[in-house]
Amino acid sequence: MPARESYNQTLNLLQEHHRWFQKNIPLIASENVSSPAVREALASDFGHRYAEGWPGERVYAGCTYIDQVELLCIDLMKKLYNAEFVDVRPISGVVANLVTYTAFTEPGDIMMALSIPCGGHITTGKRRLGGTAGAVSGLDVRYLALDYKELNIDIDKTKGRVRKLVDAGTPPKLVMFGASVFPFPHPVKELAETFHDIGAIVGYDAAHVAGLIAGGIFQDPLREGADFVNLSTHKTLFGPQHGTVLSWSKYADRIKRATFPGMVSNHHLHALAGVTIACTEMLEFGGDYTRQVVKNARALAQALHERGFKVLAEHKGFTESHVILIDVTQQGDGGTIEETLERANIIINRNLLPWDIKEGRHFMHPGGIRLGTSEVTRIGMKESEMIEIAEFISRVVVDKEGVSKVKEDVAEFRKDFQRVHYCFEEAAEAYKYIRMR
Ligand SMILES: Cc1ncc(COP(=O)(O)O)c(C=O)c1O
Repeated sequence: MPARESYNQTLNLLQEHHRWFQKNIPLIASENVSSPAVREALASDFGHRYAEGWPGERVYAGCTYIDQVELLCIDLMKKLYNAEFVDVRPISGVVANLVTYTAFTEPGDIMMALSIPCGGHITTGKRRLGGTAGAVSGLDVRYLALDYKELNIDIDKTKGRVRKLVDAGTPPKLVMFGASVFPFPHPVKELAETFHDIGAIVGYDAAHVAGLIAGGIFQDPLREGADFVNLSTHKTLFGPQHGTVLSWSKYADRIKRATFPGMVSNHHLHALAGVTIACTEMLEFGGDYTRQVVKNARALAQALHERGFKVLAEHKGFTESHVILIDVTQQGDGGTIEETLERANIIINRNLLPWDIKEGRHFMHPGGIRLGTSEVTRIGMKESEMIEIAEFISRVVVDKEGVSKVKEDVAEFRKDFQRVHYCFEEAAEAYKYIRMR
């Protein structure tokens, strides 16, 4: 294909994607949509620059304004999370995790975390699974115990596993709380001492719940005993894709060094500027936004439950965060349901249930689906819209109605939700394609 054709095709595909997202229902738990001001920052010249090092001690010239933005970002993050030390240079949640593995462990050390079927992320995965901790950082990953019913870490069983490792002369060096399926606050307070007493570092991966912590409605891991907290800045925290490490002054030097020269050269300065703007929006609107995210997640769970879906953790109100996990084995499998819903313009993702691997299910066709309410909340939806969404999902998955009529109805429903809320300036439409040519 001639270059010009590929050029046009790429730009057309981008525009088609935007048009599609104007009329679908975005329920991916790890996604969100950023404000017009954040998108402006992403398109700025910062995206062409390098600023290796720390503000004021750069290896590159031309950082006058970049330094000021980065210092502002650090300051705002300190305010949001009440953190003594913040490194805003990791370019994603994965890189934030890598930074802290480098800062706090040596290859061969034992790290404890949740397994992937139990909600853990690939960054805390074992070497044989290709997980970052094992395959990249050389850590020997052992699992925290999950209580399947409570959908949370089992405190006593985990203490037992730690004791066994200590008795075997192989104590863990690091524990990573946090997960990709994270409906309830983890027992950091209850377990931090167990780990600190044996000289282990307590980490907390807040990739998913970063916004909820900033909004003050989840848990406060730094006050509960965490030595560091890693963020993605674009899931419940509604900035652009980037990462951050929060910690204490005593760990500043080793984290800074692990980030640069260890893990980043340029640190995506346009995204950093966007994160700075998102932090101001979070400070101003974070309380209202996060309260609505959780109300919406509970309302969606309840409405799906009433339509025959087995939403897990019913006895605890389904969730205390943005995410719900549904066992869909009565309706089919997660992979097929994900694909069918996408054809109706409802975007969700398939997910392993904690017991899926033991029951012989594969991650392409797992027993579960995972839904998140951050993005639909950001575009202004409330509890009554969650009931409508549950009805759309039910029409496709339970009633097996043809997708084309549902797709039409979804597009009609979406017409009223085209702006980003919880930000200073809402003028531009949320999914407007910004043309500069
Ligand atoms: C628990 C957890 N940690 C880390 C990450 C990776 O974050 P990022 O996509 O920002 O690299 C994710 C991504 O979804 C996650 O769920």
